[in-house]
Amino acid sequence: MELPYAEPFKIKMIETIRRSTRSEREEWISKANFNLFNLRSEQVFVDLLTDSGTGAMSDLQWAEIMKGDESYAGSASYYKLKAAVKDIFGYDYFLPTHQGRAAENVLFSVLVKEGNLVPGNSHFDTTKGHIEFRKAHAIDCTIDEAFDTTVDHPFKGNVDLGKLEAVLKNNPKESIPFIIVTLTCNSSGGQPVSLENLRQVSALAKKYGIMLLYDSARYAENAYFIKKREPGQQNRSIKEIVADMYALADGMTMSSKKDGIVNIGGFIGLKDAGIFEQASVFNIMFEGFVTYGGMAGRDMAALSQGLYEALDYNFLEARVGQVAYLGKLLTSYGVPVQMPYGGHAIFIDANKILPHIPKEQFRAQTLAVELYIEGGVRGVEIGAIMADRDPVTHENRYPDLELVRLAIPRRVYTNNHMEYVAAAVANVFERRSSVTCGMEIEYEAQILRHFTVRLKRTAALMAHAK
Ligand code: F0G
Repeated sequence: MELPYAEPFKIKMIETIRRSTRSEREEWISKANFNLFNLRSEQVFVDLLTDSGTGAMSDLQWAEIMKGDESYAGSASYYKLKAAVKDIFGYDYFLPTHQGRAAENVLFSVLVKEGNLVPGNSHFDTTKGHIEFRKAHAIDCTIDEAFDTTVDHPFKGNVDLGKLEAVLKNNPKESIPFIIVTLTCNSSGGQPVSLENLRQVSALAKKYGIMLLYDSARYAENAYFIKKREPGQQNRSIKEIVADMYALADGMTMSSKKDGIVNIGGFIGLKDAGIFEQASVFNIMFEGFVTYGGMAGRDMAALSQGLYEALDYNFLEARVGQVAYLGKLLTSYGVPVQMPYGGHAIFIDANKILPHIPKEQFRAQTLAVELYIEGGVRGVEIGAIMADRDPVTHENRYPDLELVRLAIPRRVYTNNHMEYVAAAVANVFERRSSVTCGMEIEYEAQILRHFTVRLKRTAALMAHAK
């Protein structure tokens, strides 16, 4: 018999989590204004809100924490991390930041001007936020297949070259500071981009003289999918694939909280000395001196180790395998999820489960709240609340997909937890027709509203149900 994969680690320390009752959860979610970000972590049993900063560090990373050099300038931990970035991604210029959105803030302060267009594949919400905050526009050029959850395409994060070229051809070069490709594409379901697609995007970028950047949060998971799914890549190491990917781009922003397997951190990597120099000024203003950028020395040291651990094939196989394990369980229960399963998360298709709730009443948020009440499982809405209002018309934006994302932290939960989660989702799915009221906004912030939105249950549908 062929031996199955198994996690290439064993557990040295555990953290207790507590189950709660349904009536406790009803009360807590109501007090939290039906916003899952407002829950206290003790009120959650299995926390799949995010895989960001929630991973478990290894013994070697904790050893690096002890070795961290906290010098304000010229820290040894900075140089160790800089060397890892050069070795893995090939970029000479590097700026640490306290997390991914900070890297966006610093780099976009140099590059993005009012009225600019930034094409890419379903920009992540903070990326889009930092573009729109500068009165520029994020243009989604993802392939159409990504917007149909039932289509089983190996690289649903791919950029549609026709859509991209139309943007590049029909607008002045000065209005397009860069193209940004997100690896893997979080907003379209943790879906990877193929190496071939990156080559083609890079060729178009060169043809039109535009910079190419990667939003790199899940670069290693993307490389794993390339190895597994792209013809000709099977015998190559993850590190070789990553090197090829990054040779095609001019720079990167990174949220180290994902594939860096640390609890906080980010960075910018660049080929160009001039942009690095300009970005350094903003880094000093917003983040900290260029050799720490808002990170403790020990955190930079742990990251220098984590970046390598994320490249380990056996780790990635177990990591992506666990996500697929949850996906397969949900599929077996008939729950509609984004296919194929993502690298870091399973995305449940709320449009298919709650079509009777009007889209104006936020189907995915409604489903996420039901799942919490059912089993104390916290996911996150990736739908109309997160999509925010149009910055010009201030109308609500209704994306094609209303998803509940169940993001799995790295090296934290066991497959028993996945079985528990799947059972909770299945129970909500069974009783879906009895979910008769959606959500209504009571308060929202002007930008990135999903973090602080206050909601209440709608009455109209409830009355209708009675
Ligand atoms: N880019 C992508 C693709 C992301 O997924 C995130 C964060 C960021 C940038 C911003 O990085 O959080 O370090 O500032 N994603 C988290 C998530 C929040 O839950 O998917 P950050």
